[in-house]
Amino acid sequence: MAFIVAIDGPAGSGKGTITKTVGKKMNLINIDTGAMYRCVTLQIINEKISLDETEKIEKLLSEINIELKKIGDEDAFFLNGENVTRKIREQEVNSMVSQVSHIPCVRERMVELQRKIAKDKDIIMEGRDIGTNVFPNADVKIYLDASAEERAKRRMKQNEEKGIVSSYDEILANILFRDNNDKTSSVAPLKQAEDAIYVDTTSLTIEEVTEKIIEIILGKKREKAEKTTGNYGER
Ligand code: DC
Repeated sequence: MAFIVAIDGPAGSGKGTITKTVGKKMNLINIDTGAMYRCVTLQIINEKISLDETEKIEKLLSEINIELKKIGDEDAFFLNGENVTRKIREQEVNSMVSQVSHIPCVRERMVELQRKIAKDKDIIMEGRDIGTNVFPNADVKIYLDASAEERAKRRMKQNEEKGIVSSYDEILANILFRDNNDKTSSVAPLKQAEDAIYVDTTSLTIEEVTEKIIEIILGKKREKAEKTTGNYGER
């Protein structure tokens, strides 16, 4: 029987890293839905379509082929047959993806694809609207969060590791701006599903968050198995 874990939360909450680690440890297929919005954005750039050309975007969506393949240890994204794993992280895509992810026909198609990819599989999927919209009946729903200041510090560290010089104040302002945009958006606003478990990662290490989430998943798996076998007795 398929088992679905939904991880939602704001940028910088650690969703990507945690989803990867937990997925590996628990043998769940990891699906990064942000990368799917990035693929659409790249294709819009490739085809030089402007964001108000809805008909052209709809046509692009009806033809697009996004595949997720394991290459060695890496989850690689293929867009119409080309490995775009690196390209979708470049600045040109970064600066446009949020706008693209707010276009209703793009969201509709991505949600359809996400449901198709997950069909009959055990998956862990991270994004903004997985527990609220894509899989409202997910077996486990987690909302990962951290203070804006902590998320800015994490982003600073990531940039340092990549050799990018950045200002803490600018990063923090950008995070606060994006939070506000994401939470007040009229299309798929970022919010915690009513039945999601809130995990504040501000003062936790990656290992601590991973452990906590694995515990939650194991608990839900036990509950599901007991319900299926009708065994509510002693363990
Ligand atoms: O997590 P990320 O930075 O790769 O996400 C890229 C963009 O896509 C970001 O602007 C948020 C958006 N997104 C979304 O709207 N819904 C999702 N399920 C995943 C990402």
